[in-house]
Amino acid sequence: MILDSSDQVTNFAADMVCEVINTRTQSSTPAVLGLATGGTPLGLYRELIRRCTRGDVSFQNVETFNLDEYVGVEPSSPQSYRYYMLENLFSHVDIDLARTHVPVTWNVDLEQSAVHFERKIEQAGGIELQILGIGSDAHIGFNEIGSSLGSRTRVKTLTQRTRDDNARYFDRADQVPRTALTMGIQTILESQSILLLATGEGKSRAIRNTIEGPITASVPASVLQLHPNVTLVIDQPASVELANRDYYLESERNRTGFSRSS
Ligand code: PGA
Repeated sequence: MILDSSDQVTNFAADMVCEVINTRTQSSTPAVLGLATGGTPLGLYRELIRRCTRGDVSFQNVETFNLDEYVGVEPSSPQSYRYYMLENLFSHVDIDLARTHVPVTWNVDLEQSAVHFERKIEQAGGIELQILGIGSDAHIGFNEIGSSLGSRTRVKTLTQRTRDDNARYFDRADQVPRTALTMGIQTILESQSILLLATGEGKSRAIRNTIEGPITASVPASVLQLHPNVTLVIDQPASVELANRDYYLESERNRTGFSRSS
């Protein structure tokens, strides 16, 4: 789905997330969401907070699993993804923090922590909707180029490109961690459904390679071509490099009756 603006991407994503949550409100088992960090989902989280405050959605019956966490950053540090989630979502909605899972990387055996994380996902009955951003090199989670397409949660070394992209969150570039614990590609593929969000021209090459190129470990997100239930939602700038852009727009119009004003 190619939308005019990042605000439209945000609203589309919020509608999807709320639908998953609201169909489970009366259920004895929670809605299980996979969550991402970074700049892309910030608008989505703001919108979810707004809807929760308004009473349109409740997180009381929601369990969450985050894609990844840096190694070597304390959970209480503003750079940790645990902190990011508290700041940008969890502290502002009615979620039970005991049901929010971010990979644990501080003062633990990382291999055991990875196994524990996978077990928790299994015990929750699997992830119903996984939200993904995409790196400029098409990584998903921190599954960097060359990641095994069959990988599970484990420690990955970050590429220099990812460390450069993420340096904006740190005082100095050399403070960006070199490793992270990340859900594996196979773990992500086992989600029932996936919502991949991308905004801005900086993502347009990654998006093109993801959907129009071959499936290859050099473009980790390209493996999503194999998943039966992926929704890709991007804004105009993220679509500029797509070779078949006009065709996608036309088929969206035919499928949804969605007509563009511009
Ligand atoms: P971003 O990161 O949303 O900050 O662009 C996406 C990612 O690295 O997966």
